[in-house]
Amino acid sequence: MGKIAVIGSLNMDIIVSVDRMPKKGETIHGKTVQYLPGGKGANQAVAVYKLGGDIQLYGKVGNDPFGKDVRESLSQQGLSTETIFTEETATGIANITLVPDDNSIVVIPGANQKWTPETIAGFSEEIVTADILLMQLEIPIDAVHEALKLAKQHGVPTILNPAPAIKLPADMLQLADFITPNQTELETLTGRRITTDEQLGSTIKQWEADYGGHLIVTLGSRGAAYSENGVLKIVPAPVVKNVRDTTGAGDCFNGALAYGLAEGWELPRSINFAVAAASLSVTKFGAQAGMPSFEEVMEWMNS
Ligand code: ATP
Ligand code: RIB
Repeated sequence: MGKIAVIGSLNMDIIVSVDRMPKKGETIHGKTVQYLPGGKGANQAVAVYKLGGDIQLYGKVGNDPFGKDVRESLSQQGLSTETIFTEETATGIANITLVPDDNSIVVIPGANQKWTPETIAGFSEEIVTADILLMQLEIPIDAVHEALKLAKQHGVPTILNPAPAIKLPADMLQLADFITPNQTELETLTGRRITTDEQLGSTIKQWEADYGGHLIVTLGSRGAAYSENGVLKIVPAPVVKNVRDTTGAGDCFNGALAYGLAEGWELPRSINFAVAAASLSVTKFGAQAGMPSFEEVMEWMNS
């Protein structure tokens, strides 16, 4: 089993459940509010851990009560918190508005913002000895760029989940062996509107010609798309009747993809597994609580 390093965000998620999204300028009543640890880095690390993978999470929290809660929660779930550092600032917060089948999120980065290329360089040994580096965009872009560069120089495969998406420089995109946007993130990255499978297929083909890595696009309830020898493949997600919370579905996908690749599986098998794991995760509330075990995914795939 390969060793997966995640360098990324830890947040306290403040989740307000509502029947529908408020319109611009409108005030509506919510149903519940819950405080649960999240953050794309932490969620993806938890996903790998729950599947039984070898994971080390590198992250930063603030010196406030949320920082303590987030650290304790990781530890209670069984993850090592040795490389979670406390900064003299606030812990990252995600303000999540949750409707039955979707969400919208505003992130205040707090301590996550404290990563720099220099602090990344302080972990170069850990990065270059990992078997896979998994990153997202909730820490500063120049820090992500530096980590990807170090990994690439030493032949460590990289997965970049470009979320939340912004336009990225070409020399950074070339460092991602696997890049995993959802459809809107792909539109942000490419500046192209994608409304048909034909456009999706040609975008993936062009991307892989331009940047070299594998582009895997998550499509929500439709599953995920990738290209095999220039041909568009769509891996359908099973139909989920009891969707409870899609928060962290993308994180589950990325964690499971990293798990499969670290196991030495081929890309199609890893993507199939990731689609199944992520579709199972939406049946539970909370980003981290929804991450399934390996056995649960197997049972789900065989049901
Ligand atoms: P999020 O930001 O909500 O964590 P995302 O936008 O990054 O997610 P999506 O493309 O929405 O990512 O979903 C990731 C994966 O989760 C999909 O590829 C699919 O496997 C699974 N998934 C998401 N929503 C559903 C759903 N309603 N039914 C079944 N599977 C789903
Ligand atoms: O991907 C879901 C995560 O995005 C949430 O846990 C929230 O913290 C935001 O970072």
